[in-house]
Amino acid sequence: MGEHGQKRLIRKLDLERFLSTIKPHPSPRASLEQYTTSEAVAATMLHLAAYTYSDIVGKRVLDLGCGTGRLSLGAAFLGAESVVGVDIDKTAIKTATENTAKASLDTGVDWVVGDIDAVTGSFDTVLQNPPFGVQKRAADRRFLAKALEVGNVVYSLHNHPYTDTRTLSRLKASGGGLLQDAPSPFIQRFAEEHDGRVEAVFTLPLVIPRMFDFHTKARQEIVIDLYVIRRISHLTA
Ligand SMILES: C[S@@+](CC[C@H](N)C(=O)[O-])C[C@H]1O[C@@H](n2cnc3c(N)ncnc32)[C@H](O)[C@@H]1O
Repeated sequence: MGEHGQKRLIRKLDLERFLSTIKPHPSPRASLEQYTTSEAVAATMLHLAAYTYSDIVGKRVLDLGCGTGRLSLGAAFLGAESVVGVDIDKTAIKTATENTAKASLDTGVDWVVGDIDAVTGSFDTVLQNPPFGVQKRAADRRFLAKALEVGNVVYSLHNHPYTDTRTLSRLKASGGGLLQDAPSPFIQRFAEEHDGRVEAVFTLPLVIPRMFDFHTKARQEIVIDLYVIRRISHLTA
């Protein structure tokens, strides 16, 4: 057991504190939608996966489009058996490697520079905050298809169909800033066509700081959905 005691239940606040030490991309590119997952969203995603669904501790985890490693390192911090992070961008992986060295965790992370299309193998759990497809249409669909090909369960962030002040206020009033929602018919159908069953959808706010020239505000709050999708053939195996 390491200095962080990964096998013990870790409080969400401690996880969030750990995630806040992970450096974001030094020169993010809009074309790759290189937004860092906020520590609040990453902590919610990882905590749910670990302690509501038992999908992190002792599991083989893959992070598709890992960026500088927030989700991968969070999974390692919580006690995953092994973690692989894949990103197409060399600088993101270089920063992820530096973040790993600072974190001193028991679970090592294998960092891979490459396109997600090249990923093969078999994983218990796939985590991903894919490009939402703002720059390249349907970019998130490619990620979902790959995740369901190699993973038994997928935790995937997607754009909520709309962001409005009423939904944002409802989320704030909900305390934890998390509501359950119905899946979008499109993602549900896509999942089913790829051997997946949507187990839950959680709606939550994501704050995006100003990163690119086309951002007009210092910070923008949007609504996103966290999908939990299980592979049907694994459920029935
Ligand atoms: C929204 S960012 C998420 C970053 C990271 N997961 C995080 O939580 O901070 C999407 C990431 O996907 C990567 N990406 C985009 N297209 C990719 C592809 N075809 N193969 C691998 N990575 C890709 C980008 O470089 C970027 O780091």
